[in-house]
Amino acid sequence: MEIVKSGAIVGEIEVPADKSISHRAAMIASLCEEPTVIKNYLRAADCMSTLECLRKLGARIEDDGEIIRISGKLQDATGILDCGNSGTTLRLLMGLVAGQGLRATFTGDDSLKRRPLDRVINPLRSMGAIIEGDRLPVTIHHSHLKSITYYLPLPSAQIKSAILFPALSIGSKIVELIRSRDHSERMLKVFGASIRREGTEIIVKPSKLSTPGEIEIPGDISSAAYWIVLATIVRGSRLLIRNVGINPTRTGLIEVMEKMGARIRIVNDRLKCGEPVADMEVESADLRGIEIGGEQIPRLIDEIPILSVAAAYADGETIIRDAGELRVKESNRLTAIMELNKLRRGACEADGDTLRIRGGTAVTYGSCKTYGDHRIAMTLAIAGAAGLGVEIDDSDCVNISYPDFFKSLRGKR
Ligand code: S3P
Repeated sequence: MEIVKSGAIVGEIEVPADKSISHRAAMIASLCEEPTVIKNYLRAADCMSTLECLRKLGARIEDDGEIIRISGKLQDATGILDCGNSGTTLRLLMGLVAGQGLRATFTGDDSLKRRPLDRVINPLRSMGAIIEGDRLPVTIHHSHLKSITYYLPLPSAQIKSAILFPALSIGSKIVELIRSRDHSERMLKVFGASIRREGTEIIVKPSKLSTPGEIEIPGDISSAAYWIVLATIVRGSRLLIRNVGINPTRTGLIEVMEKMGARIRIVNDRLKCGEPVADMEVESADLRGIEIGGEQIPRLIDEIPILSVAAAYADGETIIRDAGELRVKESNRLTAIMELNKLRRGACEADGDTLRIRGGTAVTYGSCKTYGDHRIAMTLAIAGAAGLGVEIDDSDCVNISYPDFFKSLRGKR
């Protein structure tokens, strides 16, 4: 697909529903016998994989094309649970299946098969889960779990959530030194679970869940990120992005962009189903390079590729440290980001876990590889739209999180 140079981005846009929150809403609703109506569920491949897996686990799911209604009395899986490309589907459902004492075999696509699973298998085994296999396909057998205190070895909401699900039946304590996204904790509380945070500890008591009846999913800040960056770097832009989740465990990109000089105004903030939501006004601005790392990273982990585009348009150098987790996402994103060098000559360099991006290098047209990774495809498209255009080898991969991305990009130029 070819993406051409964009003019100023002016007007309004809504972004698709939050992927992380959609997965959690469906999974948690399936733990309740009474139905939950989910409004604005993300109809993209990853979240559809979650629905398919839940159906095979016996959840009742009705989808009228508008709302989704879910209720559950889960049982052993009928057929293999294919998680597709979705690490969140796989890792969270492993915790859910083990926690419910059920049996299921999990698989996924080639990318998912390459991604580390020991990070979830180890804590679940230490709770007593019987898991056959260390890489996909893996089978979880009927198990009786015991509560644990688990020190998260890395700040990962997927690991944390995989332990939270069994903890709902048996209680447990999770120690999280660096905070990761807390959508599971928030959603579980909306469903009446007993979860509290004391400093770095998350304490879960055995809980009986009950549905709030209706859940509405806010827009995804990770999808908004592409427009925030495009509107910032294309001169003369002024964009209103409506209904975006602004959970503080996810807003790292906004804070970093503001420190770089971006003009982003958060307006109309409100709370929806336990999650803070707002509209964002973005105006073009001159950016300067920045150094980030440490506990900032989990709060913008999925936005590092698109932040690299902003950095390439900034004055000076940007250094992103502690970015090693990017190697085990849907693609090796530290390698994939180097494709930007085909559009901004010599801008990016990866050295161990550190990414360096020089601003102001020569802008060129290029043909780039997406590595079949939705976030890399959208990142390259934005880099091309802000520069002299780009050709990407795979546009379908955006279906994972943002099926209408290219339609919106065409509409905004
Ligand atoms: C996610 C957590 C993050 C993120 C992923 C979605 C989630 O992964 O990168 O896209 O929904 O819990 P890790 O928890 O592995 O860092």
